[in-house]
Amino acid sequence: MYIPEANLQNILINLYILVSGIVFVYRETNPSTQLGYSKFTKFSKSNTMVPSKYGMLVIYFPSMILCLIGVLWSLSQPRHVKLVALFSLLHFVKRIYEVLFIHHYSGQSLFKDNITIACSYAGFSIIQLYFTSSVPKSRVNQFEILCGTLLYFFGEGLNHYHHLILADLRKDGSKEYKIPQGGLFNFIWCPHYLGEIIAFIAMSLLSQHISTLAFQSISILYLAVRAYNTRLWYEHKFGKIPKKACLVPGLF
Ligand SMILES: NC(=O)c1ccc[n+]([C@@H]2O[C@H](COP(=O)([O-])OP(=O)(O)OC[C@H]3O[C@@H](n4cnc5c(N)ncnc54)[C@H](OP(=O)(O)O)[C@@H]3O)[C@@H](O)[C@H]2O)c1
Repeated sequence: MYIPEANLQNILINLYILVSGIVFVYRETNPSTQLGYSKFTKFSKSNTMVPSKYGMLVIYFPSMILCLIGVLWSLSQPRHVKLVALFSLLHFVKRIYEVLFIHHYSGQSLFKDNITIACSYAGFSIIQLYFTSSVPKSRVNQFEILCGTLLYFFGEGLNHYHHLILADLRKDGSKEYKIPQGGLFNFIWCPHYLGEIIAFIAMSLLSQHISTLAFQSISILYLAVRAYNTRLWYEHKFGKIPKKACLVPGLF
């Protein structure tokens, strides 16, 4: 991993990422400040609500366009930069495909929270590419790039597979929540989050920059808190629930 020199610009960018990341994680620990989408939406008369499907498109579409521009820009860059740009684009294309054709949403989301998330994804997509392109070519570790590439496809595949299982729970057209089973849902509550976490680790390896790893670690913490809240949510909704870990069997 490349550690850049501690100049003012790098310190300020990292501080900004750290503080905003901690705010996101902290918000998730408190039910009254949780981001309002999926299971955790709280209906609000004073705020604009949009159907979840549109809310999710608002979240992902700007980042997809920015990543597309990133891919075009990266054509003149070293290979690891091209890979980060391409895999970021693939991630958002996959998410938009899933929002449009896989997920069966049941509710609404808070439009202002959709905008907040969209800005954070877009900002991070740019910063991640900036970090990656600042890694000197001589410092790139090809073994880590190979591991990152394999892990990326494994993580995204795991994530997609479990999205299909969730979608299957509503294939009869119902909007009910059920206890998910099958695949890693037999052992953990949020295998789709685990898949995304593996993809986060992959992107850190591909980026080769310590600040990408730091930021992705905050995203992992965010998903860990959300996975914990998801288990509490199932407990609250169904009463007696199967004994399963949130994310990693035997660990958490
Ligand atoms: N990068 C990040 O910081 C970040 C943050 C959050 C999520 N994500 C990723 O985005 C993806 C989606 O996250 P999410 O939090 O929206 O996932 P989610 O709450 O599990 O919802 C995914 C889809 O499955 C449905 N669903 C969930 N549980 C269900 C159940 N028990 N029975 C029937 N249907 C169910 C949801 O419907 P409803 O909409 O009706 O609930 C929704 O359509 C995840 O793979 C995650 O990794 C990334």
